[in-house]
Amino acid sequence: MKFLNLYNTYPIEVEDADGIYLIDKNGNKYLDAVSGLGVNLLGYNHPEINKVLSENHPFLHLSSLYLSDIKEEVAGTLCEFTGMDNVFFSNSGTESVEGAIKFAWKTNPGKIISFTNSFHGRTSGALSLSHKFIQQQFPRIDVEIEFLPWNNPEKVANADANIIIFEPIQGAGGVIQGSQPFFDALKEQQKKGAILIADEIQAGLGRTGKFLAVEHYGIKPDIITLAKGLGGGIPLGAILMDKGIAENITTGDHGTTMGGNILALKLAKVVLTETRKLLPHINELSLYIDKKFIPSFENKGMSVRKKGLFIGFDVDDAVKLKNYVFQDKVIVNTPGKNTIRLLPPLIIKKEEVDNLFNTILRHI
Ligand SMILES: Cc1ncc(COP(=O)(O)O)c(C=O)c1O
Repeated sequence: MKFLNLYNTYPIEVEDADGIYLIDKNGNKYLDAVSGLGVNLLGYNHPEINKVLSENHPFLHLSSLYLSDIKEEVAGTLCEFTGMDNVFFSNSGTESVEGAIKFAWKTNPGKIISFTNSFHGRTSGALSLSHKFIQQQFPRIDVEIEFLPWNNPEKVANADANIIIFEPIQGAGGVIQGSQPFFDALKEQQKKGAILIADEIQAGLGRTGKFLAVEHYGIKPDIITLAKGLGGGIPLGAILMDKGIAENITTGDHGTTMGGNILALKLAKVVLTETRKLLPHINELSLYIDKKFIPSFENKGMSVRKKGLFIGFDVDDAVKLKNYVFQDKVIVNTPGKNTIRLLPPLIIKKEEVDNLFNTILRHI
């Protein structure tokens, strides 16, 4: 094989896809509760995405040398939905985090705080802030970084920080939430002058039942990173910021060749409109899951970590469970040896939720 495969890939060849289903060469239909690692928020073959793709696109890419209506429109929508003031586009999550570090640094250079069990990406800056990779022997950025224990309000209160980066809900860490006192302590640090970066790359764009996950906790960050589903399946990331951050950044401080790709932005327009429309649906399904399925997990002595359609739980052997449900044509994700994570497309319907949870529960 010429392709360097660094993942435990599924033994199927996907030939078709529709709604929340992947269809392999043999016509087998799999319920996809992973959404291409949280990207396919609108599932597959979505009519509004297809409509854009079928239009005439005289140019797909213009570069950062040109302004465009679509760039301004998507930036404007992001600001309208989040209350932020400015947006810079990137190509990926890790690149959004790199930009966020630089932008925060311009305003308040110094010690950066991150948290245990965190994941912010794989390029040097983002890797340096990702506690999940602390054992990896790769080059890191040469700045003072401290990892505070996740969800410990006292440690945050006593910290001395210039910049704090956090996931509102730790995704790769296993869908681990923080408490309100923890988030209040972050807000206090922000009041004292720390730049708060919310990494919403996994939790944002409606996943938790609000457009941004920080909305659940009353946090208004200085910088927000987005990526994953933003480009509707085409690489696109965004760094959203407060005007206090933006006014300290000048031409030459940062840049990108492909960031803000025209096709990705046209699809982002669809993603933003549709995900916002889906918020009541996500919240309704979340309550439905709470009522119908969570008691069955509790009866088995298990607790489910869940916010909207961002769901995780622990089992003795996650890979074994993943393989069992795969035999029943359901795809789930294992971010850890003991952890199952569910990131279904936000368009999932009640009867599909039934199939997903009934299949999982049959095997635990
Ligand atoms: C919270 C968070 N930050 C950053 C990243 C990195 O994103 P990407 O893989 O697009 O570089 C991820 C990816 O899973 C993520 O979940």
